[in-house]
Amino acid sequence: MCGIIGIVGKEAVSDRLVDGLKRMEYRGYDSAGVCTVENSQLIRRRAEGKLFNLVNVLKSDDAPGHTGIAHTRWATHGAPTTSNAHPHATGEVALVHNGIIENFKPLRDELIKRGRQFESETDTEVVAHLVSEQVEDGKSPEEAVQAVLPQLRGAFALAIAFRSHPGLLIGARLGSPLVVGYGDGETYLGSDALALAPLTQQISYLEEGDWVVVTEDGATIYDNQNKAVEREVTTSGVSAATIEKGQYRHYMQKEIFEQPTVVAQTLQSYIRPLEQQVALPQMGFDLESIKRITIVACGTSYYAGMVAKYWFETFARVPVDLDVASEFRYREPVLEPGGLALFISQSGETADTLAALRHSKENDQKIAVVVNVPTSSMAREADLLLPTHAGPEIGVASTKAFSCQLAVLAALAAHLAVVKGKMSREEEMDVVRHLTEAPAALNAALAYDEAIADMAHLVAPARDVLYLGRGPDYPLALEGALKLKEISYIHAEGYASGEMKHGPIALIDEAVPVIVLAPSGPLFEKTVSNMQEVRARGGKIVLISDADGLAEAGEGCMATIEMPRVHPLIAPLVYAVPVQLLAYHVAVAKGTDVDQPRNLAKSVTVE
Ligand code: F6R
Repeated sequence: MCGIIGIVGKEAVSDRLVDGLKRMEYRGYDSAGVCTVENSQLIRRRAEGKLFNLVNVLKSDDAPGHTGIAHTRWATHGAPTTSNAHPHATGEVALVHNGIIENFKPLRDELIKRGRQFESETDTEVVAHLVSEQVEDGKSPEEAVQAVLPQLRGAFALAIAFRSHPGLLIGARLGSPLVVGYGDGETYLGSDALALAPLTQQISYLEEGDWVVVTEDGATIYDNQNKAVEREVTTSGVSAATIEKGQYRHYMQKEIFEQPTVVAQTLQSYIRPLEQQVALPQMGFDLESIKRITIVACGTSYYAGMVAKYWFETFARVPVDLDVASEFRYREPVLEPGGLALFISQSGETADTLAALRHSKENDQKIAVVVNVPTSSMAREADLLLPTHAGPEIGVASTKAFSCQLAVLAALAAHLAVVKGKMSREEEMDVVRHLTEAPAALNAALAYDEAIADMAHLVAPARDVLYLGRGPDYPLALEGALKLKEISYIHAEGYASGEMKHGPIALIDEAVPVIVLAPSGPLFEKTVSNMQEVRARGGKIVLISDADGLAEAGEGCMATIEMPRVHPLIAPLVYAVPVQLLAYHVAVAKGTDVDQPRNLAKSVTVE
């Protein structure tokens, strides 16, 4: 995590650096800082906490200069204090870093032995000292960086400024993303195209091991062998307007309400409504021969994978292994050559998922990636790229990316079933019809926003909340609990409803709201029986179901939330809406920071 930006410009940079940080605050918001170069001086301003603290510091103490770097931090090594905030600087250099320098300890010990003094607890500061040593020895900035990069292990995106070289920055990337932006007589570095959106749309993505020398005239990029290389300049589609909040109070709220549109947008790439066919992009391998699928992801994306497991197994009869990415490599999974490994990620940069992808590649798996950032590391390393078209997701809690992931995964599962001869033409037409109905059903679900806002006060005082679901709605129960935990700080757990009686039912009393997800359909009766077991023990139930379900089982519940009646295939997409809205309104009622909940960051680029 952490967001970095650098500008070598013709005009003052500090305001524009801060503006870039605003666009990246979703990457981390524990502290922030800028450093400019002016009159052979490094001018550094830093502040603990949210970005507005840095803005206040700059109001009273500006950082003049036409060259500068800036950083917004999600703490890994060292508490979120001002002294641990980036940029880290010596007398000669200042730098910002996203990632982790894994071998910082031996490097730091060596540096201390050589008499260097540290002022922070971070891993990053060692890089500042290593580069500084070289510069103090009379090396040029380029020579200094070339000498230091091979000493670093771990993951990094770096932007480095030099006291005696105004008008020059050096960037480097290994394992963490870094882009170069080209402006009119100005050149930029940034963690992503979003950070640079108001400055330029002309972007080059650095490859692994690349480093780059940036001046106002442009950039010279070198590969890990220090050979000058060309990297394509692409026009980024991200405009500053797509990342405004518009009429909404929070990004999360806006993103929840965008779901009908972005799911429709995503489906356009995966179904042909006129032909009533599922349509996947060309793939460089034979999908029919796939005998086993390994799905790997984290957090909300993992829950999308959990729903997809039901679909792959039911439709295509292909066995699926499912892992959270942080566990995957360490359990030494058995990966038969030629298997399909499927990675799901909003950002495409989550370090655990990326490491699992690389591990699978080394083990002869075909790599399919469902990802929302088509220029991300995962997208670049995929054999089969399946983009979601959710648009930038800024709220830290993932919402619209999840429903778009489900749309892609449903289409992929149906396509696999078709090529394997497990799905008839009629069944395929049915799947397409139901998926086509999803955007309208999402709209209908959103119509209950006010009703959900009105009952949120029933959940807001709780200390613990349970979510129950069965079949493909069980992952939705987990997702509901995750959403509530992360933005309202209420402890919540999701359970398979049939599992309650094996232990968790002991938690039930009148202080624990139990949210039951039970669309009518084949599993309804069983879920309702589990719900009755809870009610018999004094549990306070919030039942989320359609009109039929509520008519049958809604009586005696503390509250009910009505959903449109939908086919079970699209129920997980539609039932995502009430769990998102409930978490959202509870968080608003509690007054938490919805878009930037404590301790979190959007894109987790450390393992
Ligand atoms: C929860 C949430 C996280 C992410 C997880 C994976 O609301 O946003 O659990 O889903 O960090 O991130 P991606 O999908 O970017 O790999």
